[in-house]
Amino acid sequence: MATSPKTYHVKSFGCQMNVYDGERMSELMARQGLTEADAASADLVVLNTCHIREKATEKVYSEIGRLRRDDGSRPMIAVAGCVAQAEGEEISRRAKVDVVVGPQAYHNLPDLVAKAASGKRALDTDMPAASKFGALPSRRRVSPSAFLTVQEGCDKFCTYCVVPYTRGAEISRPFAAIVDEAKALVDAGAKEITLLGQNVNAWEDDGRGLDMLIRELDAIDGLARIRYTTSHPNDMRQGLIDAHADVEKLMPYLHLPVQSGSDRILKAMNRSHSRDSYLRILDRVRAARPDIALSGDFIVGFPGETDADFEDTLSLVREVRYAHAFSFKYSPRPGTPAAGMEGEVEAHIADERLQRLQAVIGEGQAAFNADSVGRRCDVLLERKGRRPGQLIGKSPWLQSVHLVTDSAIGDIVTVEIESAGPNSVAGIEQIRTAA
Ligand code: 5AD
Ligand code: SF4
Repeated sequence: MATSPKTYHVKSFGCQMNVYDGERMSELMARQGLTEADAASADLVVLNTCHIREKATEKVYSEIGRLRRDDGSRPMIAVAGCVAQAEGEEISRRAKVDVVVGPQAYHNLPDLVAKAASGKRALDTDMPAASKFGALPSRRRVSPSAFLTVQEGCDKFCTYCVVPYTRGAEISRPFAAIVDEAKALVDAGAKEITLLGQNVNAWEDDGRGLDMLIRELDAIDGLARIRYTTSHPNDMRQGLIDAHADVEKLMPYLHLPVQSGSDRILKAMNRSHSRDSYLRILDRVRAARPDIALSGDFIVGFPGETDADFEDTLSLVREVRYAHAFSFKYSPRPGTPAAGMEGEVEAHIADERLQRLQAVIGEGQAAFNADSVGRRCDVLLERKGRRPGQLIGKSPWLQSVHLVTDSAIGDIVTVEIESAGPNSVAGIEQIRTAA
């Protein structure tokens, strides 16, 4: 591989922050004069990887294998993201890749690609004090719903989690830089912005918290909706809860992971909150915004989890009535404290718990969708549906809404929800009458 690539393809795995980083890497490559192509023909393929669970990590190696082409050739391969950060040297040993770049160093991707093209070793997993954001090009055309990273990293050190190691310490981007990027996104076509952070509600700049940032973004003409994710219970301050009561553009949705309903397991996870303190936060959030849709993350099969602990998780899920939730089987991660803990839960037990939990979560989600039948709400149209004339958009509560409409992607239309399924709802567009 000794020629400079002319076309590129970025493939992102894992969380929404990786999607954001993937877009920023695409913008970098485009600024270098490269054009976008599909994975099967691009000269350079960037795999933007996830390290959160073992399965996600292993995917990298199968993806690298799949990039081999029929004639035996392969593109220049750059491994970016959290696996690059965690396993930099090992990737180069295990697979033939040309560039390895971590999540805090990808502004250097053009230099690394040039280095690799001249046959040199190209690895950068530094976590420099100066943030990458200043070195990134301006935003280009985006979809109606855009991501904006405002905070990165984690200081909480949950015992199962790699994020503090792959993304580094908690860092907040400056207020003014975020507001500028939000305006640029709106100019580029965004109607909705989701503020991203591994602990987004810990964002702060000079004494200002996330609520102040949201209030500032509220004033941007052309921006219709604001969301944020992912939050930690311990950073759920009253100011942010109050914003849910009085900032109209802030959507009634909160993703607040709890991981387990058992205090014993929460302690072993080093979550530093209890089942009860979590539930009391949700009480305050519901007092501010009664219709809020709640979402969470759960891990089953954490070391030492008994049947009784798991029952506590099920009862918590039933009590909260989540509109949506993600659940995962515990995956031991190298270098984390939990990886050395005793009390491994047998795989078949963890599998069974995951199935039972997913069934209860599914019931809650279906009930939430069924309850919304008859509601009128705004829907931001985001993509084409499968049927002719059908578009799919999002309700304020982040439900996928299917409807037949003459309106265009990017429009916000008023819809009456007519029917509900387990994963989406369908509605009818309401004709606006002149006031
Ligand atoms: N095993 C399983 N799930 C995990 N998560 C984080 N680390 C692990 C792990 N080692 C889950 C948590 C987190 C979500 C992003 O992924 O639920 O909130
Ligand atoms: Fe995966 Fe976490 Fe990295 Fe996102 S931050 S890509 S979820 S390991």
